[in-house]
Amino acid sequence: METCLTDLHLDFANKCYVFSEEIKGQLSINNNFTKLDFSDIFSNSNPVNVEIGIGNGEFIVFHAALRKDENFLGFEIYKKAIRKAIKRCEKLENNNVRLIHFDATFFVKLFPLGSVSNFYINFPDPWPKKKHHKRRLLKTDFLRLLSDKLVDGGHIYIATDHNDYGEEICENLKPVTSLKSSFETLYHTDLVDYYQTKYYRKFAIPGKIYFFKLKKVAPGE
Ligand SMILES: C[S@@+](CC[C@H](N)C(=O)[O-])C[C@H]1O[C@@H](n2cnc3c(N)ncnc32)[C@H](O)[C@@H]1O
Repeated sequence: METCLTDLHLDFANKCYVFSEEIKGQLSINNNFTKLDFSDIFSNSNPVNVEIGIGNGEFIVFHAALRKDENFLGFEIYKKAIRKAIKRCEKLENNNVRLIHFDATFFVKLFPLGSVSNFYINFPDPWPKKKHHKRRLLKTDFLRLLSDKLVDGGHIYIATDHNDYGEEICENLKPVTSLKSSFETLYHTDLVDYYQTKYYRKFAIPGKIYFFKLKKVAPGE
């Protein structure tokens, strides 16, 4: 069957966000979308940072306020949370944040190769029951996909306070040879030079974290 490539339309003209309804309306079984062009989304070609699971948006807005010459794209599937993030984003002086109320796994596939400077994944849902482990986000295939979308020398930051998930991430990273820890060990047991998100402040026990900072390296590096 012939594949029909379609542009996914994301309307950020007068707002910093797109809700899932606008996206779902464009999805159909045969849709095969062209890769996203970040310069269309941000109207500039500044470096792009992506946060997956932004919660109330504190982290992304904190960084966007400090790093005015960079772009920040955030994903969140929970509407109540993204509404809070939108309010924060709307108070920002600069116009360098875009928020999408949708599953990030759908969108990451649409990023061009080598296009993202940093991915941030802070306290991803741990799905603690064994029968739900398969729903965890940070499987080997997804970690490899994130690596493919990073610029050379770009980073993936991951923090979890869930011991079993932390150990699974260590295992899942083993085949992804393009990612190397920026620390002397694979992970730190607490955040290092890092914004403490709402989840961290509410639930995490300092010293009992798995904090990864992974750099994309060239083959053989
Ligand atoms: C435990 S909360 C952490 C929120 C925030 N990062 C923090 O540290 O306070 C995880 C968040 O990720 C969101 N999430 C989970 N899977 C997602 C996905 N595939 N795409 C976008 N957001 C996702 C959830 O809705 C939830 O708000």
